[in-house]
Amino acid sequence: MAETHEEVVKVWIAPGCIVCDACETDCPEVFEVQEETCIIRPEALTADFNRPLTPSIKIAAEGCPVDVIKFDMIEVEGPEPWAGQEQEQVAAGPAAAGHSAKAAGPPIPQGPPDPKWAGLLAAAHTSGSRSAGGPIVTVRTATAPAEAIVAALPADAPPDALAAAMVGSGFSRPRPSVADRIRNRAADLLAAASVTRRQFSVTLALAWACIGLTTATALAALQAFMVPKLIKEPPSTFRAGRLQEYPADGVYTTYKDSNQVWIIRRGSVLFALSTTCTHLGCIPNWLSADQKFKCPCHGSGFRMDGVNFEGPAPRPLERVKIALDGEFVVLDKSVRYRKELGQWGQDGSQITV
Ligand code: FES
Repeated sequence: MAETHEEVVKVWIAPGCIVCDACETDCPEVFEVQEETCIIRPEALTADFNRPLTPSIKIAAEGCPVDVIKFDMIEVEGPEPWAGQEQEQVAAGPAAAGHSAKAAGPPIPQGPPDPKWAGLLAAAHTSGSRSAGGPIVTVRTATAPAEAIVAALPADAPPDALAAAMVGSGFSRPRPSVADRIRNRAADLLAAASVTRRQFSVTLALAWACIGLTTATALAALQAFMVPKLIKEPPSTFRAGRLQEYPADGVYTTYKDSNQVWIIRRGSVLFALSTTCTHLGCIPNWLSADQKFKCPCHGSGFRMDGVNFEGPAPRPLERVKIALDGEFVVLDKSVRYRKELGQWGQDGSQITV
């Protein structure tokens, strides 16, 4: 039976990437971690590019903490092309090949690891080679030349050790660790949540203000409905000027608009008539040319003394109480005198001057 093996022909990223950098560390030829997610590099969209990278792609997929790396494989006849090679050397790609040629470079300064580099090592994905006891390279400071550090790495240095050496040498800058990324994302979410809470508070305050305004308006309307309205009217008793202001016969309209009365002098008699039409309450006009009061509503007519003589008015205009207070004429509209009741001759219905 012919020997076969499997090769990766297609790779893609499913939703849910947490941008932990593990895949790019394991297989930088295929994976590129960006701000929000990991992407497949454009050149890795072809089967021919991916097939020789099958081991490192599979390592990256197995090491993905959220299992978002997906790939398709085909079965190929023959032994694995990469059989006999160190798995981690394949995963490291051209860079590993480059440093293996310079394995005899200057020694790496030994000492306590740089905190930044140590953190990266701690966060880096552990490849199969490291699990198998591969060498771990330490770099004390970031001042060592990149070429010297890379050349000093053992030929079988795992990919994460190579990446750490690159970072430690200053050749590349490490991305934040997974923990830092989670912390940063949590901080962003908290910041967004605080804005939302602030907006919610403002909205709530506005809502309460609207409710308060509506309630106040309703209470004001209720008060206006419950409290009786006061209609200001002129007092019923008032002074209607001095007696000498009525020297001759005639109708004096001085207090028609303000107090709804006419004052009439006929010879030595002075009296006051209400301006309310006895038909339906309109206010007639004094027509001096015709010497009569004429109601504009239904045409009732009243002579100068107030007696009705035309139109629908059923009775004469009413007199109001009149008196003298010294030289002043005083009227009291609350006291009325009706001719049809024989009241026009009573005291108060007129004065003699
Ligand atoms: Fe004056 Fe009708 S109200 S005539």
